[in-house]
Amino acid sequence: MPQKKDSPAPAPNHSAKTKVSKADKSSAIPEENEKKAQLAGFTTQPDDGSLTSNQGVKISDDQNTLKAGRRGPSLLEDHLFREKLMHFDHERIPERVVHARGSGAHGVFEAYDNAQSICKADFLKPGTVTPVFTRFSTVAGFRGSSDVARDVRGFAVKFYTQEGIFDLVGNNMPVFFIQDGIKFPDFIHAVKPEPHNEIPQAQSAHDTFWDFVSLSTEATHMVLWAMSDRAIPRSLRMMEGFGVHTFRMIDKKGTSRFVKFHWRPTLGTHSLIWDEALKISGKDPDFHRRDLWEAIESGAYPEWELSVQVIEEKDEFKFDFDLLDPTKLVPEELVPLTPIGKMTLNRNPANFFAETEQVAFCISHIVPGIDFTDDPLLQARLFSYPDTQLSRLGSPNFHEIPINKSLAPVVNNQRDGHMRQTINTGAASYEPNTVGGGCPFQAGVKMGGFATYPQPVEGPKVRDRAESFFDHFSQATLFYNSQTEVEKKHIMQAIQFELSHCNTPAIRERVVGVLEHVDKGLAKGVGDALGIKTPVKIDGPLNQLVPADIAKEKYQPSKNIGHGKSSPALSIIGNLIPAVETRKVAVLIADGYADETVDPLLKALTDKGAIPQLIAPLGGTVKSAGGKELAVDFGLNSVGSVLFDAVYVVGGKKAVDTLSKQAPAVLFVNEAYKHCKAIAASGEGCDFVKNALAKAGLDVKGESADLFSAKNGVLLSAAESKKDSTSLTEDFIDAIGNHRAWDRLHIDDIAV
Ligand code: HEM
Repeated sequence: MPQKKDSPAPAPNHSAKTKVSKADKSSAIPEENEKKAQLAGFTTQPDDGSLTSNQGVKISDDQNTLKAGRRGPSLLEDHLFREKLMHFDHERIPERVVHARGSGAHGVFEAYDNAQSICKADFLKPGTVTPVFTRFSTVAGFRGSSDVARDVRGFAVKFYTQEGIFDLVGNNMPVFFIQDGIKFPDFIHAVKPEPHNEIPQAQSAHDTFWDFVSLSTEATHMVLWAMSDRAIPRSLRMMEGFGVHTFRMIDKKGTSRFVKFHWRPTLGTHSLIWDEALKISGKDPDFHRRDLWEAIESGAYPEWELSVQVIEEKDEFKFDFDLLDPTKLVPEELVPLTPIGKMTLNRNPANFFAETEQVAFCISHIVPGIDFTDDPLLQARLFSYPDTQLSRLGSPNFHEIPINKSLAPVVNNQRDGHMRQTINTGAASYEPNTVGGGCPFQAGVKMGGFATYPQPVEGPKVRDRAESFFDHFSQATLFYNSQTEVEKKHIMQAIQFELSHCNTPAIRERVVGVLEHVDKGLAKGVGDALGIKTPVKIDGPLNQLVPADIAKEKYQPSKNIGHGKSSPALSIIGNLIPAVETRKVAVLIADGYADETVDPLLKALTDKGAIPQLIAPLGGTVKSAGGKELAVDFGLNSVGSVLFDAVYVVGGKKAVDTLSKQAPAVLFVNEAYKHCKAIAASGEGCDFVKNALAKAGLDVKGESADLFSAKNGVLLSAAESKKDSTSLTEDFIDAIGNHRAWDRLHIDDIAV
């Protein structure tokens, strides 16, 4: 096994989780930082003074165009009207060709005290706090598409370090669909809406995606990730991030080591259920963007710990996969994670376009101490990002846009170009020179100059691929084997769903044929649902990535099938971090509710950092049996249980009578049951829950002991005594923290 001689010492316990209120947080994390101050220099407030034209001339009438007579034609002369309309006509820029839909936030990264033994980068010096801007995204959908589409999530972090910008442009999955960047345009064309009718939006459930990935079997591992719960995160704050490629870190002595980057959220990794995601897309397509925004506004700042897997150069060939192959991960069981710092996002952007839309990440933005490897996907990305940004942002000067501006001084002989902001003075715009006193001069490595790691390279020029890239299935099987039964079922159901939206029978069959190389049970399960008999015989080579003039046998994918390994770290459910903070709890309530329970319930939930919201038949207020009035957050028709993590039904005879007549209230509970969410009720609320579940077809009498149990995540307490309601609330909070009752009884029988 590789490891561990020179790898960094274990991290100090910076990641210990404590509940932090807004006040606590702001004392722990500096609110002010250099990047914030830099951006402030470009920021204006609408209350800065009178309305003016772009030339600074005050405007007296912004309601009427200039006309010949009060009812007459508009005049071309109207310079104010033309200026305003001309600007409006050009307000849109091209959306990103991929990752168009995204949400961003500012924050800081704080280095632990252990990374400098492997990396000389200044921002990894112990305790260094570096401003960051992070953008999360979906890949396939357009800018206005739904947040919760089944898709990979981009996870891009811009570190504004003192040595220049470092961008860690990763995803929430540790591998990718293709091995060589020359296939990226093909892959993206296949997953985007089909070109003849631009259908479907933000979906991989269509012919061209499955046609491509089933012909390019190197995609199989990543396809399983994309069909897993990882592709439908509960929140952007609750997903992991990965650098995907193998990078290098260089220490002060010039020693290079291979590293894999890995972000882990302190709230744990959690996902939605597919049926829930489909419904959220209708009820709140901005679900993730809103969730991130609101959490930061409320002071519940999301945090991720950054870890690296470190592999000594001498261990490069120790694995049964190639470190340069981006369709492979390095199992944590082989190389453990070493935490090296923590990112906290603590400030929403002031302007979406100026910051989140104009930010330009690039994998080639690195600082001394970090370097690339020969991963052929990574190498292609080095070209692609600045190239696309040239057309997306319209000029080679996009590094001058405030969000992209380095904190370290930018001093070079590059000049001019569209929209240049900098006024470079003096006669010397070349180097070497004497007219400018020799400035700017090259900085030697000892002065912090960047020098590429002198990796020896030798070989014939070929368009080819190493044989160590030919195994397309072992890690797909590894991933599948590492999932719990619930997660395996979700993967199978996701593929069934996707393939049932493919029109071409041959594509569906080919996919099932490919799945047989991963797991025969998975292939059969998918096949059975689609009426495809297994085993499927596929005609022709599976791998179409074959150069025209080369012996095709050489390019057959490996027959290395299902070798039974597993990596427990790859399961979400198997690695649950219970967390109640920021969980949304719907409290179903109506006029005449029982006074006793509500205040203590709301307090207990809020104390744990959860967000209870009162949902009543109508908006406005509700009155308790004792005459107390509470403000309602939402009327039943404006929301749905899919927007919440848990449901509580408050007692009180009159209140429950009212709720019982409300179909949306019944649906609320039943959907929460179907989606395995914590449900609790007190007093007459218990009957409401029982009746609702009975209406959905569950046998609430025969099995009530099992159905209404902590294990099943349905907690009822008919008594309203203080002791009973306290222990009910405690059990409810535990159940919320567990995220879902995955083993919930008769989940497939429930009729909603
Ligand atoms: C050869 C393969 C790839 C190519 C050619 C490519 C190309 C691109 C392009 C053109 C963009 C739009 C950038 C912009 O307009 O600012 C983009 C965005 C992005 N890519 Fe890639 N990409 C590739 C692979 C990957 C991989 C493997 C990852 C993850 C490790 C990734 C992560 C991202 C992210 C996170 C963004 C969004 C950045 C943002 O938030 O602005 N890409 N990619």
